[in-house]
Amino acid sequence: MSIPRETIEQIRDRSRIEEIVKNYVPTLQKRGRNYLGLCPFHKEKTPSFTVSPEKQIFYCFGCHTGGNVFSFISKMERLNFPESVRFLGNLVGIQVHEDRKDEGTEKREYLLKINRYAMNLYHKCLKSDESRGAMEYALGRGLSAESIDEFKLGFAPDAWDFLIRHLQNKKVSLATASDAALVIPSKNREGGGYYDRFRGRLMFPIFNIAGDVIAFGGRILGSGEPKYLNSPEYELFSKSSVLYGLHAAREHIIDMQRAIIVEGYLDVIGCHQNGIRNVVAPLGTALTEQQVNVLSRYCREIILLFDADSAGIKASLRSLDIVDTKNVDVRVAMLPDGDPFEYITQKGAREFMSVVDSSIGPVDFKIKRVLAESGNIDPLKVLFLLFDVIKDVRYETERTRYLKKVSSLLNMDEHSVSSDYEKFVRGLREPKHYSAETEKAPEKEGFLVRSYRELLAIILLYPEMTEQAVIDFSADEITDPVTKNVFTMITSLYSEGKAVSVDIMFDYFPTGDENSLLETILAKNFESINYKDAYTEIYINIKLFNINIKIERYVELIRNSRDNDTREYLTEVEVLRRDKEKLLSYMHQKH
Ligand code: CTP
Ligand code: MN
Repeated sequence: MSIPRETIEQIRDRSRIEEIVKNYVPTLQKRGRNYLGLCPFHKEKTPSFTVSPEKQIFYCFGCHTGGNVFSFISKMERLNFPESVRFLGNLVGIQVHEDRKDEGTEKREYLLKINRYAMNLYHKCLKSDESRGAMEYALGRGLSAESIDEFKLGFAPDAWDFLIRHLQNKKVSLATASDAALVIPSKNREGGGYYDRFRGRLMFPIFNIAGDVIAFGGRILGSGEPKYLNSPEYELFSKSSVLYGLHAAREHIIDMQRAIIVEGYLDVIGCHQNGIRNVVAPLGTALTEQQVNVLSRYCREIILLFDADSAGIKASLRSLDIVDTKNVDVRVAMLPDGDPFEYITQKGAREFMSVVDSSIGPVDFKIKRVLAESGNIDPLKVLFLLFDVIKDVRYETERTRYLKKVSSLLNMDEHSVSSDYEKFVRGLREPKHYSAETEKAPEKEGFLVRSYRELLAIILLYPEMTEQAVIDFSADEITDPVTKNVFTMITSLYSEGKAVSVDIMFDYFPTGDENSLLETILAKNFESINYKDAYTEIYINIKLFNINIKIERYVELIRNSRDNDTREYLTEVEVLRRDKEKLLSYMHQKH
């Protein structure tokens, strides 16, 4: 990082979070040990935005946004971490003197600059006389001149060196332009030349959340293959975490507490153009977990809107299962005909919204699809396809409800359906060899992940527990990568003799899944618990759990072994059993 650590600490010491926040949240008032006010990150009538002066953190119980004083500024002012430090430095009167920028930062800034240059060039080109054909195509498709400006659409002429010539005039390094995926090194030319990636295409710049252009999608004018050519992934661009249109949609998503997901670039623009602005699209793939994570920080509801002819429905619906565990509701709707762009352009926003509002839950949607596609198939087969949908529903009460629904839809006897369902599920399990193991595995995994996350919460909220935890646990034993990263950071800060607490961790994880995990931990700050007891309980749970797994593994080995290894295994099991006894007796003493 380019700002010296001491400067960051000085600025942190000088900034009282409650005072900084008060500038943005006039309703902030002291309530007991904390402050409470109306959240600046989502619309609310009763205050759920909390600031803890003791811990120097904020957390909103409504939209689950939280962090330290730097993250607050970063979110309010839409700045990245170093920018927020500088901003806050100015507020509290501490000048930030840059260290020499590290190479990584310099390179990233250069890549952003080249992308911005290319975007402006393509945009200007689209509006020039020479590109009349492209402009006619864009307007002819129904794009408005305002949208073309707002989304900075452009045109890459059909030439091998349009961008290259301009970059050369500007003395921009073509090697770096090639790192930004805008030009491609040519294989067959001597001396290593380059050629333009995008030729003869209407250009859709793709922005990151900070509003910087980081990639492009290029549509061929008329028909041809591929219809869309997209930047490949590179240093700044990862498809799975970017959403097209988010820079324009974000504040509307927060306002409406709802995000509408459509399939394509044009769909996004068409909706914005017709006044529906809480709309984004993934980049030609099904919605990913990371994208859902991003959205779940802004809103409580995600609506997937599919084209009538959508090929990707099945894959997209499967990816919905990941959403199940997030604090956001997902609903699904399908247009009666065409895609969102055509639909809203022809029928208008009102009719479009009535389709959106007819959305249903993912399971209901899957059931509907099966029935719609079943045609003349044998009803029993349809029933099994529906069982396959229902088996993924997490709760038994819910499953029962769906089974009931399915029986009535198919006009079948409810009891027979339930009993067939049981058979169906058992049939799924039996052929597998280690059935009991595989069935329980995810549940086990979940328990461990949860326990380690609880452990993290205790360490971070009660820093006096850090030493104990660093002695008792090691990062290697943690399988969940997010928890592992945070724990590794704690260990290394601790070993350098630095303070470890939840507010500081936000500096190291300003974005990403780790950041989301830290936010969840903040929610727990406002529960009062006996943290030493809680630590002991988690400690025992995790250790017991791991011992049990080891024992099971040895038992399995013993079961399968033919020769003399058995004795050795038995000794191991004996040792483990003794450890387990110790832990158990400790637990009983405590209670
Ligand atoms: N897509 C892609 N590569 C392709 C085809 C599609 O990346 N070869 C992505 C694009 O993000 C596109 C989205 O998938 O916007 C939806 O594809 P499609 O519905 O075929 O295109 P539209 O957006 O509807 O564009 P158009 O109306 O011009 O066909
Ligand atoms: Mn489409």
